[in-house]
Amino acid sequence: MQIIREIEALRAAVAGLRRDGGRIAFVPTMGALHAGHMALVAEAKTRADHVAVSIFVNPRQFGPSEDLAAYPRREAGDARMLEEAGVAILWAPDVATMYPEGFATNVSVAGVSQGLDGAARPGHFDGVATVVAKLFNQVAPDIALFGEKDYQQLAVIRRMVRDLDVGVEIVGVPTQRDADGLALSSRNAYLSPDERRAARALPRALGEAAQAIRDGAAVDEALARARARLEAAGFAPIDYVALHDAETLAPLASLDRPARLLAAARIGTTRLIDNLPVAPA
Ligand code: PAJ
Repeated sequence: MQIIREIEALRAAVAGLRRDGGRIAFVPTMGALHAGHMALVAEAKTRADHVAVSIFVNPRQFGPSEDLAAYPRREAGDARMLEEAGVAILWAPDVATMYPEGFATNVSVAGVSQGLDGAARPGHFDGVATVVAKLFNQVAPDIALFGEKDYQQLAVIRRMVRDLDVGVEIVGVPTQRDADGLALSSRNAYLSPDERRAARALPRALGEAAQAIRDGAAVDEALARARARLEAAGFAPIDYVALHDAETLAPLASLDRPARLLAAARIGTTRLIDNLPVAPA
């Protein structure tokens, strides 16, 4: 595996992989890799000849009061995992390479970026869309894989790729979970043992609400019950528990089309997100 930090070297390495006609799959990450990220890498391997992974903790997608400085950074261990998984290129630029002096461009995707995490984290999805647009231009992959764990992010990237005619196929990969159902996340490392035990209420509350809605319960009542369960488990504040159109992310009052149930809530100082599909019968 080549570990690359300069754009010219990246372009040369990608050109080298392409010379034998191979398809390139790309997995963008912020590092502190866990089995969720590695599931994207494994899926990438089945869909392409070569896999490139990026590790870049993107300052533009963190709000001023968020955890940019504290975000876990473990590049040496990450590189070992990627090497073992058969990754060809690890693209790990520094902040000055990504955002050189005078950087002035912002990619903003209206609609799907608004509401949910877009409302709770102003500017977050502009930061994500901008860095992913840059990463796509740098790596120029055939396909790129994103986790359903960050469902709104996946919707934002799909919209951006359609709107800007980016020639990259976007593949969504189901959320990888711990044995008790908690979605794997780099931020789970922030949880105390008590918080970690309480956190399993998040997937449980979502699972029950999804089942109730499928069984015909009123959406607002099912969402209120899920919120009450989260509060009882110690989550506060709850940013949202909501049912949205699975593609456009428009809010839904009833299950009249394929939907997604999404939640974000804080336990202690750690903000967790999760989501589940809810299909009409
Ligand atoms: P990061 O949080 O490191 O996640 C990288 C990718 O791994 C994302 O596509 C995310 O959805 C996926 N992922 C994380 N946990 C997962 C899980 N439990 N199951 C399945 N997939 C999971 O998301 C980002 O980084 C950044 O916003 C990025 C896209 C790299 C732009 O900076």
